[in-house]
Amino acid sequence: MYNSRIAGLGHYVPENVVTNDDLTRLMDTSDEWIQERTGIRERRWIDPKTSEDTTSIMGAKAAKIAMERAGVTKDDIDFIVFATLSPDMYFPGGGVRVQDLLDMPTIGALDVRNQCSGFIYALSVGDQFIKTGMYKNVLVIGSENHSGGLDKTTRGRGVTVIFGDGAGAAVLTREEDPTKGILSTHLHSEGKHAAELALEGPSTGRWVDAIIADDDPNETSYYPYMNGQFVFKNAVVRFSEVIMEGLVQNELGKEDINLLVPHQANLRISQFVQKKFGLSDDQVYNNIMRYGNTTAASIPIALTEAWEEGKVKEGDTIVLAAFGSGFTWASAIIKW
Ligand code: UT7
Repeated sequence: MYNSRIAGLGHYVPENVVTNDDLTRLMDTSDEWIQERTGIRERRWIDPKTSEDTTSIMGAKAAKIAMERAGVTKDDIDFIVFATLSPDMYFPGGGVRVQDLLDMPTIGALDVRNQCSGFIYALSVGDQFIKTGMYKNVLVIGSENHSGGLDKTTRGRGVTVIFGDGAGAAVLTREEDPTKGILSTHLHSEGKHAAELALEGPSTGRWVDAIIADDDPNETSYYPYMNGQFVFKNAVVRFSEVIMEGLVQNELGKEDINLLVPHQANLRISQFVQKKFGLSDDQVYNNIMRYGNTTAASIPIALTEAWEEGKVKEGDTIVLAAFGSGFTWASAIIKW
């Protein structure tokens, strides 16, 4: 039985910066409200007039950097796991598009549909394939193009101001030393709350024909819906639980955490978790201020930046944790 470790990380965000003040020109909101409630100052939104970026293209760009840093080529990758809630197409998923964009051999590509927890779920899938010995190098990607599908009017402000576009990627590789790499992953779901953070249509529950036939100017089923306060309350509980679960399984204490990289849902959620675990500012990495919530891309973008800033060092205990639509939540405990 092998272990897996992250051998290379990369991220890519679109050039177009959208500040909170920019949003006030689209809807009734304010920089003060957004910063106070979420911590977000700006986010990146693909500008379709100047950029050809899509979810898959951003994912491929992030993956290229991760592969270069891992010292592997496209021919070394055995499998792709691609996490997104905003694929370029309804089907097929983004993984196969990355296989093509990076001109890879005809390796397998799997899409993961677990929204904000998507990257940790994807990492866990890659980890299992490496642990069993089936694959040696797995490319794990989280990428989102939210901006194309948000309600950019006052009606959608409770959701729209939060989300940003971007991608992050990791090359997972075989590790012979069982005390190094991904020590454990912890995955959970509670589907009874599916409707609390969801995009209903178009889907088999809300076919395009039905949406068009209704011709309802108030139709919102094709925009994301979020019961913000309910999600917030569940998030703080589940984040804490799933981090603790990972620590307990590895016989670690709070004091062993060198760096927590939480899914960037809301700065207030990260601060709540930081306080609960008694962590210092240096022990929690946040970049939601600059990117907003990029769902499946948020952890790999944050982890990449933390690594680039020298905050992820050999021998460190790194904790990843996420919560989001589904509901789903997850954590990963990594010995770097
Ligand atoms: O990543 C997936 C998981 N997602 C999350 O974890 C998100 C969790 N939830 C949250 O982060 C917060 O609930 C939000 C940031 C989404 C909202 O913050 P809140 O403090 O829960 O605000 P609220 O939804 O209770 O709204 C408070 C008020 C309302 O006005 P009234 O009814 O009090 O008059 C909203 O209409 O703020 C209003 N509001 C806004 N005002 C200005 C909602 N959105 C905006 C806006 N600008 N963008």
